[in-house]
Amino acid sequence: MQFNVIKAGSARARTACAIVGIHEKAAMSDAARRVDRAAGGAIARLLRRGDFTGKNPEVFPITAVRRGPAERILLVGLGPKSSYGRKAYRRAVFAATQWLAKTGCANAVSWLAADPVPGLDAGYAARHAVESVSNALYRTPDLKTAKKPPLPKLARFGIVVPDADSAAAERGMRDGRGVAAGMAFMKDLANLPANVCTPRYLAEAAVDLAKAHESVRARVLDEREIRKLGMGSFLSVTRGSDEPPRLIVLEYNGGRKGDAPVALVGKGITFDTGGISLKQPPGMDEMKFDMSGAASVFGTFEALATIGAPINVVGIIPTCENMPSGRATKPGDIVTSMAGKTIEVLNTDAEGRLILCDGITYARRFKPRAVVDIATLTGACVIALGAHYCGLFSPDEKLAAEIAAAGDRADDRAWRMPVAEEYAELLKSNFADMANVAGREAGAITAACFLWKFADGLSWAHLDIAGSAYLSGAHKGSTGRPVPLLIDWLLHGT
Ligand code: BES
Ligand code: MN
Ligand code: ZN
Repeated sequence: MQFNVIKAGSARARTACAIVGIHEKAAMSDAARRVDRAAGGAIARLLRRGDFTGKNPEVFPITAVRRGPAERILLVGLGPKSSYGRKAYRRAVFAATQWLAKTGCANAVSWLAADPVPGLDAGYAARHAVESVSNALYRTPDLKTAKKPPLPKLARFGIVVPDADSAAAERGMRDGRGVAAGMAFMKDLANLPANVCTPRYLAEAAVDLAKAHESVRARVLDEREIRKLGMGSFLSVTRGSDEPPRLIVLEYNGGRKGDAPVALVGKGITFDTGGISLKQPPGMDEMKFDMSGAASVFGTFEALATIGAPINVVGIIPTCENMPSGRATKPGDIVTSMAGKTIEVLNTDAEGRLILCDGITYARRFKPRAVVDIATLTGACVIALGAHYCGLFSPDEKLAAEIAAAGDRADDRAWRMPVAEEYAELLKSNFADMANVAGREAGAITAACFLWKFADGLSWAHLDIAGSAYLSGAHKGSTGRPVPLLIDWLLHGT
């Protein structure tokens, strides 16, 4: 898909479809009035008849337009003017794209950002448009044998902005392209079944990513090398599996040599059965998404390389399966982490923290200026926050505020939860330095506090994406989150 910014002053080129916003009670925006004049009053006539009232995100096509810059006009509802903003704007672009995807339109021009969108500057208006269009056009590579519906014809999408804002919009569009590519990459990986997307498959994806981008390097460590590093906690999770584990290290070098990098540590459990502490069958298939943290790191690297971001970032991905077997780790087993701390594994289903703690320890060798781990870590976080916000945990006020603000700007929100000694104390063990689980209470927080104990002296944050990384039910699939948040923080937040 090709996106381009069009200055409102020179927006005359003919297009297959002009997308025009209408507020509730059939109120035309300034841009709508302008398109209407050019189209000989076609919009005004239709609104007078009461055919379209402007509910968000309803659409209404006018297909036989003889005059003006468009063969078709797609009216899209923006809702009440009083509550108009980023959400309604994004939903409007998404709905318009869904309609376009079912038509023969090969190109379209959106007039929605020609008028100011409350709460968005032109850069973010362009970025959100690019993301919404791309998300609406995303199709999961599936293995259905029935003939597929034809691919959408839409190939070019123009974004009209006020002349003075075109440079900002160009920058926003470039960020949006990167984020969209990163989200699609994350979704493709996370949506794959676990019999395809194994730790070795992810390692190969890392090597391919480095081949595709000169700014990205990939290193893959096998079981022997992981053992040499002393990652006894990570290795305790893979014991029951016939698939060998991998430690993937990605480096993106867009900044100056010697600039301290940000480290992203992603949970890469390609399937989580729970191990000997076996999960219940209902919904267990969704545990193929337990590598979403890892996939979000891949997606973020794809985005960084696409954008050419002027920073250094390392990605650390411990990846393995969590399976039961005669060799699997048993409840009560004690393992030694790379940091030297001993851990009593009271529940083999709390495996994410066991691989991440060694990943965080490994991150220290890069002397990072910040470490953020990303993980589908706890069902408790899903209970606490549902699908809309991910959990944000950090004892570092500044880092937490930066990440929360980036999530707001990116429309990929994170809600801060506490990290405190009172919760960490619940991880006491009679036999080792710490246990890997506490009780049922505050499950998302005690999980975060487990990781906190390995982040001493680091500027560290943890994102629990168990609720936000994928959808269940009819729309089952990866959401591509938190790539937008991470990119916003890395580009504009730190
Ligand atoms: N991968 C799961 C967390 C999860 C649950 C993600 C539901 C998405 C949806 C994680 O490894 C896990 O099993 N956590 C346990 C921890 C418990 C044993 C302390 C959980 O949340 O039940
Ligand atoms: Mn688990
Ligand atoms: Zn898990």
